[in-house]
Amino acid sequence: MSDERRKIIYSAMQPSGVPSLGNYLGALKNWKYLQDDYDCLFAVANMHALTVRQNPTELRKRTRDLIALFLAIGLDPEKHIIYVQSDVNAHAEIAWILSCFTYMGELNRMTQFKDKASKHSDNINAGLYTYPVLMAGDILLYQSDLVPVGADQKQHLEICRDIAGRFNSIYGNVFKIPDPYIPKVGARIMGLQNPERKMSKSESDNLNNVVYILDEPNVIANKIKRAVTDSDTEIRYGEDKPGISNLLNIYCAVTDKTPDEAVNDFKGCGYGEFKKSVGEAVVEHMRPIQESFKEYSSDKSYIDKVTKEGAQKASYLANKTLNKVKKKVGYPMN
Ligand code: TYM
Repeated sequence: MSDERRKIIYSAMQPSGVPSLGNYLGALKNWKYLQDDYDCLFAVANMHALTVRQNPTELRKRTRDLIALFLAIGLDPEKHIIYVQSDVNAHAEIAWILSCFTYMGELNRMTQFKDKASKHSDNINAGLYTYPVLMAGDILLYQSDLVPVGADQKQHLEICRDIAGRFNSIYGNVFKIPDPYIPKVGARIMGLQNPERKMSKSESDNLNNVVYILDEPNVIANKIKRAVTDSDTEIRYGEDKPGISNLLNIYCAVTDKTPDEAVNDFKGCGYGEFKKSVGEAVVEHMRPIQESFKEYSSDKSYIDKVTKEGAQKASYLANKTLNKVKKKVGYPMN
């Protein structure tokens, strides 16, 4: 047997709303498959969520529910580390240090900042701006090899690699430079009503645009039935067919079929029948997860146990890197 260490996977999700089908297909579903071959850390990024105003009671509940959802999709807390970001002090500490190695010019280029700043023009706070530094710290603390995310996080991964490379070039090999893992299918699930923009869990204007993982089966089916299509009748991929392409992608991601197989399944079908089938496929895929979520979310003491143990294990690993970093930058080491 080789004593080579298993590669490390790190990923996180904000408790900023009930996760959407986009969060599931772009991230959670892949976390589940990848956990067989890697040592994984999966976090609830509640510190990130503070970048927009939150109701404290709701935030606490959503944080716990997200841990329950991680368990419901099948993440294994015995083999991997499942934790809440704010339970590990090292995140806040490393974020400050790394912010001193990040240029404003780099942060100015972040499209997600521009996007969120335009949506929350009454609260363009410094945290929203430096958020990619906090995220880089999350990843770098654990010497992560691979970060499974949706396509919208690609730019944040790039800045993380740049910050790590800069730090390493000054102080030696402190951080592992992580690679993104962006799935071929499901990396960018678009809104059902507005397929030109990504589906987002924090959407509040048009609930028919977003399928939430915990939506009732009939709600999921109805939202998909109402999804916008086009005036054509053909079920195929095409830049001129964003609504149909998105539904085909959703179908592929929940059935593990290839795009060709999906197109083939619907040859000669009308849009109505197509959308009904996609809805059914999503409902069937989500059913066991929803049932499992109900059980986990009602078992408060188990969730607390997982969270507490996860925080202890994550803190141990994070502090190893943080101590190295503190020494390098010249903090007193008593
Ligand atoms: P968040 O909470 O916005 O999203 C969680 C994950 O879901 C993916 N995702 C999507 N994938 C496909 N289609 C969509 N429409 C869609 N919407 C969201 C995201 O790409 C992400 O993978 N900053 C992160 C959380 C984070 C993190 C980290 C991630 C904090 N620290 C360290 C990786 C590593 C975020 O806001 O994700």
